Amino acid sequence: MTTSLPDRQEQLSNLEAAQEASKIFNALTDRDHVASFFLDMGCRLLKARSGQLFRLEQGKLQEEASTVVAQKAAPKISDPETQFLKKIFKNARPDILALKKQWLLALPLVVRSQIWAVAAFRLTEAPEKKEAIYTGMALADPAASAIKNIEFYQEKLRAQRMATIGQTISILSHEMKNRLGVLLGHAFLMNRRLNKKEWAAAQRSWSGLHEGLHELQEYVLNLLSMTRERQTVMKKTNLNQLMQKTVKEFQVKAKKKGLRLTAQLPKHPIQVSIDVSGLTSVLQNLIGNAIEACDKKKQSIQVKLAQDKEKNLHVFVKDTGPGMPPEVQNKIFNLFFTTKGHKGTGLGLVICEKIIKEHGGHMQCHSAVGKGTQFEIFLPSHLITH
Ligand SMILES: Nc1ncnc2c1ncn2[C@@H]1O[C@H](COP(=O)(O)OP(=O)(O)O)[C@@H](O)[C@H]1O
Ligand SMILES: [Mg+2]
Repeated sequence: MTTSLPDRQEQLSNLEAAQEASKIFNALTDRDHVASFFLDMGCRLLKARSGQLFRLEQGKLQEEASTVVAQKAAPKISDPETQFLKKIFKNARPDILALKKQWLLALPLVVRSQIWAVAAFRLTEAPEKKEAIYTGMALADPAASAIKNIEFYQEKLRAQRMATIGQTISILSHEMKNRLGVLLGHAFLMNRRLNKKEWAAAQRSWSGLHEGLHELQEYVLNLLSMTRERQTVMKKTNLNQLMQKTVKEFQVKAKKKGLRLTAQLPKHPIQVSIDVSGLTSVLQNLIGNAIEACDKKKQSIQVKLAQDKEKNLHVFVKDTGPGMPPEVQNKIFNLFFTTKGHKGTGLGLVICEKIIKEHGGHMQCHSAVGKGTQFEIFLPSHLITH
């Protein structure tokens, strides 16, 4: 009576430890980590010399992972042991093989009613069979279920990725088809006009063709700049001047639409080390979007540069245009999202965000329907040079 008491206590604490371990299994996101943590815990709780995880591939046992206590290499599995483990793969029942003062405890790891692997622990002492199996399975079952969850999650992720790739290809081919259609139209007209010797009209088709090709090139370059790791070339620049120059470039376009485009810049020059062409294209995209959005005369666009107490830079591009409803605003940084039909690409803001992130900054958008939209770019103070 008295001798069985410590054993019972030990069994209880083993079970408790197994339960604790199962919580940890669920927090792991990598199959290999689950396997090695399971083998470690198994060796500890079962007082095993080693733990190995085998999978059966084309009728052969393949070692998937191993943990060895106080020895250098994982032990070799003898022929009778191999037969024994293969039997476990067949009947999925835990068992112990006793061979010349050696005990091999085999535990099946069942994932979705199929054996995913069999764990083999070499025990140092003659085990109490039921207890060893009980403790072992208290670890093996949650480990198998954690592996099942990880595989399920990875499968879902793969499926999502495939769906995204499919969607991307579909959008891109659609876009290319449209653009190529326009180019072919110009080429067809040009050919006809040349044949009829209508030189002036042929010249117009030629201009259309040229413009279309230019736009296509720009589109492809934009796509490339998004997928490739851009080589950012940091250069010392006067940010006020860069902003002033970019605003000036858009003044004619704004005026044509009857819009007021102004810049509000600090009096003192702000010298920064930035990717000049990257930041210029961010401003061009934001100002371009604002001009495109403003649909009424007298609406205005303001570009502003300010500095906070910590010297961080804030660039604002603010318009009094139509603004965006929340459902549009939620999607504006999504690749290919556009409300401009065939006139938009949905690349602009994605590129802007990428460039700003490459500078260690971030961007935000505030918009209200009927009031307007404000984009704010935050650039960290360490970009400032003195
Ligand atoms: N200033 C703005 N006012 C209203 N809507 C805007 C503004 N800027 C961007 N948007 C919205 O964000 C969308 C995505 O912009 P962008 O990524 O530049 O792609 P694109 O200009 O090709 O549509 C636009 O289609 C538009 O709906
Ligand atoms: Mg745009």
